[in-house]
Amino acid sequence: VPEQIDIKAEIRRMCKEKNALIMAHYYTEGVIQEVADFIGDSLALAQKAATTDADIIVMCGVHFMGETNKILCPNKKVLIPDLNASCSLAESCPADEFERFVMAHPGHTVVSYVNTTAGTKAVTDVVVTSSNAKQIVDSLPKDAPIIFGPDWNLGNYINSLTGRHMVLWNGACHVHEKFSVEKILKLKKLHPEAKILVHPECKGPVVNIADKVGSTAALLKFSIDDEAQTFIVATESGILNEMQRLAPHKTFIPAPPDDSTCACNECNYMKLITLNKLYNCLKYEWPYIEVQPEVALKAIKPIERMLEISK
Ligand code: 13P
Ligand code: SF4
Repeated sequence: VPEQIDIKAEIRRMCKEKNALIMAHYYTEGVIQEVADFIGDSLALAQKAATTDADIIVMCGVHFMGETNKILCPNKKVLIPDLNASCSLAESCPADEFERFVMAHPGHTVVSYVNTTAGTKAVTDVVVTSSNAKQIVDSLPKDAPIIFGPDWNLGNYINSLTGRHMVLWNGACHVHEKFSVEKILKLKKLHPEAKILVHPECKGPVVNIADKVGSTAALLKFSIDDEAQTFIVATESGILNEMQRLAPHKTFIPAPPDDSTCACNECNYMKLITLNKLYNCLKYEWPYIEVQPEVALKAIKPIERMLEISK
């Protein structure tokens, strides 16, 4: 990227010229969220992709989010600034192993978290996000046996909310499983007035001490609407950008991970999306997401079913 240019202005100019839509997840760097046209949680990003009339979608997020966009918009170019932006949950559930798991449980409805590859979605009956998982599981017949993958913590949480006994795949997010209940409680002693916000990918003991459990968008909304002035936030720390922007007078404290020697409350995959890479990606229209058409044809059904139920 040439040093003398105003990179953000140039990105916005190219967007207009190419009729491109930049979408960003809350976990990306603040500067990426600032330059994006649309910021959202996984559900909002999929809903936006399904309705946009842009010619190009630039997904500033992780690979499965770009794949979901491409599946929903097969005729659009879907760019992602770094193809290596993976997701530990999606990686914990390879499509061939998940298919064997499905075959080992005949007669089960297969519910998959959106944090999966297109191949895993292709052997799924209905996709969910953390925003709509309870609603979608509740919509299934009461006696339907269900398989849920890949996030064990989210599956366990949904089992507890719905009274179901879904069979769970044993996957986890390497960021969310690291939050330490002991460290959060210590922090709460220092800030007794603080409310604790927790993403349902966290482990059960962390979920149990939450004042609010929800998707990134739900936690954001709660932090703005609630009367509390201080919040301890147990999800990826990128979301603090938007919380602080929307409620500048409030205090947001990132929850500490169990290992204080690393920035473990950051998703290293989301942080691969940098402004320079975004600039180059828009300029050269590369790299882009590809999904094999036969996989996409199968994977679109459970995604559309989710969008239909979540309308
Ligand atoms: P949301 O759907 O809440 O945005 O979560 C996505 C994610 O990757 C959480 O780690
Ligand atoms: Fe995946 Fe975890 Fe990163 Fe979310 S925070 S994208 S679940 S690795």
